[in-house]
Amino acid sequence: MTATLTARRPALTTEGIRIHFPSLERRHNGQQVAYFDGPGGTQVPRVVVDAMSDYLLNHNSNSGWAYPSSVETDAAVAASRQAMADFVNGRADEIVFGQNMTSLTFHLARGLGRDWGKGDVVVITELDHHANQAPWRDLETERGVEVRAVRLDAATGQLDWDDLARKLTGRVKLLAIGAASNALGTVNDVHAACAMAKATGAITFVDAVHSAPHILPDVDAYGCDFLACSAYKFYGPHIGILWGRPELLNSVRVPKLIPAPNEAPDRLETGTQSFESIVGAHAAVDYLAGIGDGATRRERLVHAFEAMHERQQALVEQMWTGLSALRGVTTFGPLPTEARTSTVSFTVAGHTSKDVALALAEQAVFVSNGDFYATTVIEKLGHAADGIVRAGAACYTTPGEVERLIAGVAALSS
Ligand SMILES: Cc1ncc(COP(=O)(O)O)c(C=O)c1O
Repeated sequence: MTATLTARRPALTTEGIRIHFPSLERRHNGQQVAYFDGPGGTQVPRVVVDAMSDYLLNHNSNSGWAYPSSVETDAAVAASRQAMADFVNGRADEIVFGQNMTSLTFHLARGLGRDWGKGDVVVITELDHHANQAPWRDLETERGVEVRAVRLDAATGQLDWDDLARKLTGRVKLLAIGAASNALGTVNDVHAACAMAKATGAITFVDAVHSAPHILPDVDAYGCDFLACSAYKFYGPHIGILWGRPELLNSVRVPKLIPAPNEAPDRLETGTQSFESIVGAHAAVDYLAGIGDGATRRERLVHAFEAMHERQQALVEQMWTGLSALRGVTTFGPLPTEARTSTVSFTVAGHTSKDVALALAEQAVFVSNGDFYATTVIEKLGHAADGIVRAGAACYTTPGEVERLIAGVAALSS
């Protein structure tokens, strides 16, 4: 990022961002906490919490009734749908809210699967989180659908694109692919994958949960039919968002109550929604848009993500170079020169992933460990028993915090 850009927009600087996140003040063992657990869920700016508490304290109601707080709830949901539409580059009536990405994907897969059976094929990938595997795998047992998993090259962290082409043959109904890997940081060329699937007549489902905090989703550019993400990964509360093409959202045979609305997007939303989280997701999108410049919210988001990407690229290079230089440390996934997010996973010889996470926590450096439900990836890396350690840089991460991470790991390596 250029000096002039940050001078004009102090909100774009890491310092300008950090003041909005009260949890960054937390101390542990006498030191300020450095949060590297963003891929599991980011910290939340005060404006998100304020919006949620304002909703609960002043507007709390169920939806759809005639009295003011219910009307306000409906208006808040509509406004949030528009914010989420701007976030994914879609339309407000194409946005479905739900508990999280996993529940939304199970729900959608069940509905789509009601029209599929023996002889039909769904293609998934070994690189994906199991939330983008299990809902489709269930259709094997429930509907007799054949599920094919595209091979991951564990050494490079990349999908085998020839294998994808080979698997996209016959009666392929759907390709389910992640925009980025939550275990390795790999960024997939979603546009190319969706184009390949489309050419065979398949519809496409994109898991943008890991990519969304790093790469602004763009359903138009991806050319996908469905996309799911989760606000708690991009500085919002715990809620999932599904975008879909209206004709599909209106026709998919999802389980629903007869008296519930039968028009999209409402027909995919089960029961009473977490209105406070819907309000919080809106505030998170507005917070991110507020970091950038532009005439529309989408333009501001595009600008903000460009600036954040530039900074996170520098952080991932620092993390990768520092960690991979340490004796006994193995880093996984694409090199920083390739398309990747600022999520770096690694192991330290002679230590379980939990030991590493505990030792770093002593230094107030918070990292996650295990398989992150990307179980197939971790199995293919040969670390099913002990898991791996994952450190993710977010919009509030500083080079100084990365130094502390590297120093903490260095103290363990030999
Ligand atoms: C890539 C990816 N997909 C799906 C999920 C599941 O998301 P949710 O917790 O919203 O169900 C996660 C959560 O970590 C993830 O990282």
